[in-house]
Amino acid sequence: MDKIVVTGGAGYIGSITAVELLRMGFEVLVVDNFANSSPGALGRIGAVAGRRPMLVEADCADAAQMRGVFAAHPDVVGAVHFAALKSVAQSVAHPLRYYRHNVQSTMVLLDELCQRGLPLVYSSSCLVYGRPERLPVSESTPLSEPASPYASTKRVSEGMIAQAVEAHPGLRAVVLRYFNPIGAHPSGLLGERPNGRPENLIPLLLDVAMGRRDAIKVFGSDYPTRDGTCIRDYFHVVDLAQAHVLALGRLLGRKAEQPYEVFNIGSGSGVSVLEMIDAFEQAAGRRITRLMAPRRPGDIPAIWADTAMARDVLGWRPQLTLHEALRSAWLWASRASEP
Ligand code: NAD
Ligand code: WQD
Repeated sequence: MDKIVVTGGAGYIGSITAVELLRMGFEVLVVDNFANSSPGALGRIGAVAGRRPMLVEADCADAAQMRGVFAAHPDVVGAVHFAALKSVAQSVAHPLRYYRHNVQSTMVLLDELCQRGLPLVYSSSCLVYGRPERLPVSESTPLSEPASPYASTKRVSEGMIAQAVEAHPGLRAVVLRYFNPIGAHPSGLLGERPNGRPENLIPLLLDVAMGRRDAIKVFGSDYPTRDGTCIRDYFHVVDLAQAHVLALGRLLGRKAEQPYEVFNIGSGSGVSVLEMIDAFEQAAGRRITRLMAPRRPGDIPAIWADTAMARDVLGWRPQLTLHEALRSAWLWASRASEP
């Protein structure tokens, strides 16, 4: 069985991807320091996939620890690098912490992969596009100024991977630029568990629906969009997990046309904040009180993906609907609150 290192595999997207990799017959070695997750995720991955991943508790930004991981597992054939911190607001308050977890971890991992000629699938973000002038954004849309230290760590990491691939003939990488992944595993056992106060729309809507908050604040209703609220590209996290399986298969099967490839991963269409709240009400069967509030600093009015490359080259297309994503998020939150 091919063994894959999955850094950050105890987290939201990593745990659901680990399930899909295990189901595809890979052996999964999770490397996580539980900075934003807990060891309990490993048991739940095992329960869903029918097979438990291996675990090494380690800091991916620590070169000595990562050398130890690869030395102990010489049969690893590739890596998927999820490990990172992801709060835009926290990255403004603690930029160096973000560069350490996000950029240094990528550098340390690249070093190990270079030495062994192993391929990498990297978790990037649509935030690298900054404030795009034209929509939808394709992979050839020029990248603009990152709006936060977090966005900058993704931009810098992408550049570093591209340069390392160019310099080291054995190294190959696929970068996936995620738009707004949402939802949970349909089992209700794996999903997003925000650390501290949630910042993102779906965890906040779940809080309102669970009665932990009175209302959702709609950040800005005077944007130049169809209903005045911001537009984003939301899609199911299980579809995102599938994109990683395809990317890895492409690298391991040496099907990639170039040693460095980038794909947008999103639904390909934009949904406004008000449309999301309506869709969530339907999926959860709960009324959500909304309060119009000022714009959130740093928000861009609209972004959604051109996914033609993912479809035509990677062979990926989303299989699940927005309704299914929101239903799964609701199931996950309801299960998590059970005594
Ligand atoms: P998450 O916080 O749930 O998972 C990240 C995991 O990495 C956690 O288990 C955490 O403990 C671990 N980790 C962090 N720093 C580490 C370190 N130094 N060493 C070892 N483990 C470490 O986040 P997620 O939503 O699953 O995001 C996964 C990846 O996808 C991240 O790289 C994130 O930047 C990227 N991404 C996420 C989104 C999103 O909307 N969730 C969108 C675009 C990109
Ligand atoms: C979505 C929309 C808000 C909360 C985030 C991360 C980013 C990237 C993708 C990792 C926006 C509006 C939100 C609320 C609201 N992840 N909103 N009221 O900003 O698109 O990006 O996910 O790379 O790092 O920041 O997602 O869920 O925060 O917001 O009106 O209480 O919902 O203004 O338009 P965003 P989000």
